[in-house]
Amino acid sequence: MSITGSLTIAIDGPAASGKGTLARRLADYYHLPHLDTGLTYRAVGHALLTHGLPLDNVSAAETAARQVDLANLDREALSAHEVAEAASRVAVYPTVRKILVDKQRAFAARPGGAVLDGRDIGTVVCPDAGVKLFVTATAEVRAARRLRDILSRGGTADPAEILADIVRRDARDTGRSDSPLRPATDAHLLDTTEMSIEAAFQAARAVIDDFLAKRDDNQPASIS
Ligand code: C5P
Repeated sequence: MSITGSLTIAIDGPAASGKGTLARRLADYYHLPHLDTGLTYRAVGHALLTHGLPLDNVSAAETAARQVDLANLDREALSAHEVAEAASRVAVYPTVRKILVDKQRAFAARPGGAVLDGRDIGTVVCPDAGVKLFVTATAEVRAARRLRDILSRGGTADPAEILADIVRRDARDTGRSDSPLRPATDAHLLDTTEMSIEAAFQAARAVIDDFLAKRDDNQPASIS
């Protein structure tokens, strides 16, 4: 669907909540560019792991953050479990966050708008986004989804370990002092525990279409 004017959609939520799939589908539907901000933190974690550097080396993490190129984020190379864990470790450092947030804001500022997903999009990166969604699901359902995903790609995993990993990452993401994971006060909550991705997409679309209809109604009539 083509929209008139600019639209920024901010999508936040914990690991494996379905926010990434939802963000991609919405970006596709509304013809907007999409940025998965988790990949920027993963790129920093990946750089440190690749160079054998400790994850608490803040100055190396800052250097890696400066080198992050939004046009060159390789989802496949950054998908590993250890990279996700490393990402959440480096994401606690305010200086690393500042460098990445500046790049994310530049992406969000493109004419026409964008869809961004992450943990702090509605609260910090794009506090003025037209539509904010906060996507959740129980840790057990998210772990089951993650397991299905790994198995469908021919991998193997220990279900208990996946759940423990999700719970640990949730605790780190919600407990950090800088930009913790939490819904913006004006975010629409979308609990996908018992929802298919299609149902979540339709629910999100209803919120966005309603926002667009109200916004367009408030535009002054054009004078010709
Ligand atoms: O979304 P994804 O699982 O790829 O994110 C990896 C990690 O990056 C998260 O666990 C979180 O610690 C961090 N992150 C963040 N802020 C964002 C996006 C991701 O702190 N906007």
